[in-house]
Amino acid sequence: MGAGIAQIALLAGNEVVGREVSEELNERARGRIEHYLGRAVEKGRLDVAERDAALGRLRTTTEVAELAGCELVIEAIVEELDAKRELFAELERVCSHEAILATNTSALSVTEIAGATERPQRVIGMHFFNPAPLLPLVEIVRTEQSDESAVDAAYAWAERAGKQPVRCNDTPGFIVNRILIPLLNDCVRVLDEAKVSAEDLDKAMTNGAGWPMGPCALIDLIGIDIHVHASEALHGKLGEERMGPPERLLTMQAEGKLGRKSGEGFYRYE
Ligand SMILES: NC(=O)c1ccc[n+]([C@@H]2O[C@H](COP(=O)([O-])OP(=O)(O)OC[C@H]3O[C@@H](n4cnc5c(N)ncnc54)[C@H](O)[C@@H]3O)[C@@H](O)[C@H]2O)c1
Repeated sequence: MGAGIAQIALLAGNEVVGREVSEELNERARGRIEHYLGRAVEKGRLDVAERDAALGRLRTTTEVAELAGCELVIEAIVEELDAKRELFAELERVCSHEAILATNTSALSVTEIAGATERPQRVIGMHFFNPAPLLPLVEIVRTEQSDESAVDAAYAWAERAGKQPVRCNDTPGFIVNRILIPLLNDCVRVLDEAKVSAEDLDKAMTNGAGWPMGPCALIDLIGIDIHVHASEALHGKLGEERMGPPERLLTMQAEGKLGRKSGEGFYRYE
């Protein structure tokens, strides 16, 4: 998600500082961005000069201190509250008072992340969807303490980047995941209840409900671990049984079948 969001920001003309935990991961992220911008050139959607200029605006680092000059920081690290709180406390020390600190969390409380800082009014959610460069929606999430000016600035930034932002409060799952996660869990339960294959379930939902992508392919894209985590978070907060992760997904996670990123989920990937 981090590389995808960086790509959006670069194409919108921003100077971007990407921060990963190792140089190797930085190189991998840069490689991904180069790959997708290269494809855009091949397809005639971007010219070579635009690609080179975009890549020229990208700087990578392993040091949080290098984010000091950023007006907007969009965090997309692992979906763990403690790790995010630790990072936000550090970001606050490093960044200017006016900087907007945004989290791309899928299911954690933005309020709890903001609570790790002394300036929770500058902390908001900017929830992108996967793959971030392709899916237009960005949920701009306000907590009770968020400055409306920070919310408006993030909204305007997303619009300038060609996205379709929407505003919402910091409630579990925000808008789309509140609806989609229990629905995807229902789909996975139907696999066993109706003894249907992943291929046929996807065929059913794309052809019968007009979904652009089947539920199993979608969960593979999201990542089984990310989906399980989001399910547990929603279940923990709202308590509805169908929000909890189905047994099948827990087994897949334990087996390391995490979807596209691990090469196998409901489907196998080269
Ligand atoms: N995958 C999705 O579909 C999706 C969609 C929307 C939002 N999100 C959210 O985006 C965030 C990242 O998700 P992802 O799927 O890209 O996960 P991921 O595990 O693929 O990537 C997380 C990255 O964060 C890096 N990281 C780990 N700890 C770090 C730290 N302390 N500081 C900096 N970097 C660190 C890791 O090296 C890794 O490259 C999560 O909060 C997730 O909930 C994911």
